[in-house]
Amino acid sequence: MYTLKEHDILTYLTGANDKELFGRANATQSQEFGNGIYLRAIIEFSNVCNKKCHYCGLRAPNKGITRYRMGNETILNAASLAVSQGAGTIVLQSGDDFSYSTQSIGTLIKEIKTQHDVAVTLSLGDRGVDEYAFWRECGADRCLLKLETTNPRLYKRLRDGEEFSSRLHRVESLRHLGYEVGSGVITDLPDSNLISTLQDILFLTALDLDMIAVGPFIPHPQTPLAQVAPGSIELSHRVTAILRILNPHANIPATSALSALEPESQRLALTRGCNVIMPSMTPEDHRADYTIYPGKNASNIDITDSLTHAKSMIRSLGLVPSSSKGFSPRRNNVQQSTPRNTTGHNPRRTKECRQVITG
Ligand code: 5AD
Ligand code: SF4
Repeated sequence: MYTLKEHDILTYLTGANDKELFGRANATQSQEFGNGIYLRAIIEFSNVCNKKCHYCGLRAPNKGITRYRMGNETILNAASLAVSQGAGTIVLQSGDDFSYSTQSIGTLIKEIKTQHDVAVTLSLGDRGVDEYAFWRECGADRCLLKLETTNPRLYKRLRDGEEFSSRLHRVESLRHLGYEVGSGVITDLPDSNLISTLQDILFLTALDLDMIAVGPFIPHPQTPLAQVAPGSIELSHRVTAILRILNPHANIPATSALSALEPESQRLALTRGCNVIMPSMTPEDHRADYTIYPGKNASNIDITDSLTHAKSMIRSLGLVPSSSKGFSPRRNNVQQSTPRNTTGHNPRRTKECRQVITG
């Protein structure tokens, strides 16, 4: 186990010792997760959003994209395909689209949990804590709510006047509801620097998260940040590697922002501390419209080969695609997916971590 002082982290962030950093991150990852890389299928079921985040192509004022909303049947079909191809988790993601009622999302979660032995992750934005409580009762296991930056002033500016404290409060509430909680940041947002990146790392680590997602900023042409330079892949890799050392048990994905900038960089991240990959299982007629940033869903990969592509990328590294639900080994205080039956400890976890796809 490695320990890092702030000074060491800053030195690593400069790139002064990448070989050592990535080696340590990889060693920690292997020690915690062996060869397994968790497959989490993401279904981006609506690109409608009522927010105005300055960095994101789905922002409400962007009239240049075709908006879509998928119905429950289409979502369930995508989930079935994902499970048949080895996904152990279904991630339901959308913009902040309040047209889906609490009840209809609840029905969707129950259907997925009834039809398949998978974990369900919600990435639905700033919905009410009472709604998240209901969805937890319906069987949802995890939530993903990124802070994007841990600098409250930058947060307020880039999220068009929203308060950082509300977002943080929501992240903390999700934990109290018994969810496994994921959060994260975008690296190289405007006005960030190595010191603010260090602060992001320390803040995320202090939150003691189950999942930490970090990816580089990518300018979207139809946003106020169109002219800002894309983030550095190397810096994003350094941040996830440092987070791996500081948070050995956390699930850390090799994010699709990396592959949008340079496909090889997502593969490389799996050897530098990242243990999760989240291929998009959004159906063809919509996937190209989920344009958070350019290149989000590679147009040459369709729903039927998205997971196949991820699995061959994993195997090409001598690693093993895992269909385990991939519950966070960090958590021994979290409730299981059926809240009423919980003991607080998940005895299946060790077994699940060993489950791998061999086909
Ligand atoms: N560049 C990189 N990541 C972005 N996201 C949104 N816009 C961008 C961008 N321009 C990320 C945010 C959000 C996730 C769905 O995508 O972190 O939470
Ligand atoms: Fe909407 Fe999320 Fe994009 Fe912000 S980052 S505009 S909340 S989809």
